[in-house]
Amino acid sequence: MKTVIVYKSKTGFTKKYAEMIAGEVSCDLMELKKATPEKLAQYDVVVFGTRFFAGMVDELKKAKELVARSGAKKFAVFATGATPNAAEDIVNDMWKNNFTPEELETIPHFYMQSGICYDKMPFGEKMMMKMAAKMMKNQKDKDEMGQGFEEALKGSFDISDIAYIAPLVDYLKED
Ligand SMILES: Cc1cc2nc3c(=O)[nH]c(=O)nc-3n(C[C@H](O)[C@H](O)[C@H](O)COP(=O)(O)O)c2cc1C
Repeated sequence: MKTVIVYKSKTGFTKKYAEMIAGEVSCDLMELKKATPEKLAQYDVVVFGTRFFAGMVDELKKAKELVARSGAKKFAVFATGATPNAAEDIVNDMWKNNFTPEELETIPHFYMQSGICYDKMPFGEKMMMKMAAKMMKNQKDKDEMGQGFEEALKGSFDISDIAYIAPLVDYLKED
């Protein structure tokens, strides 16, 4: 099965995970902005790597449209984010809010915790983070997750680890 990982990465975490996966399974890497249906038509399996972004799976709609037009046989998604993998409810809610019930069943999806990198973050996104940090600071009666989120917004951190690619690598090796 010929496989490509199409990815979008602003601050490098998703790209790093895509490269780690490519180190384990034979596949090509392609930036989302360079992907076309014609290019993807050369592959049997398309994996889309992206980030969680303000409650959204960033560019999922665009990736789905590209894949549908390419005729690729298999499509899977992985996302990176500042949320720890252990926060399963938050991660599952994110998938539920971004996929239809049918897509949840038919599109394999994987989550890999990453972190926050302010150094490489575009200016507009830094502003979004600042606003979120301010809102969290003013919020009273924060639960444990809220406190964790507030802490996470304070500065850059990296909780990525090669161990988190294992479920997707196993899925890709099944073929
Ligand atoms: C404006 C903004 C919003 C974000 N929203 C979320 C979010 O809702 N959930 C989450 O877990 N991480 C969130 N993150 C963290 C990113 O998902 C994380 O840093 C991701 O790995 C970035 O990927 P990249 O380095 O490939 O661009 C957000 C980051 C930014 C800058």
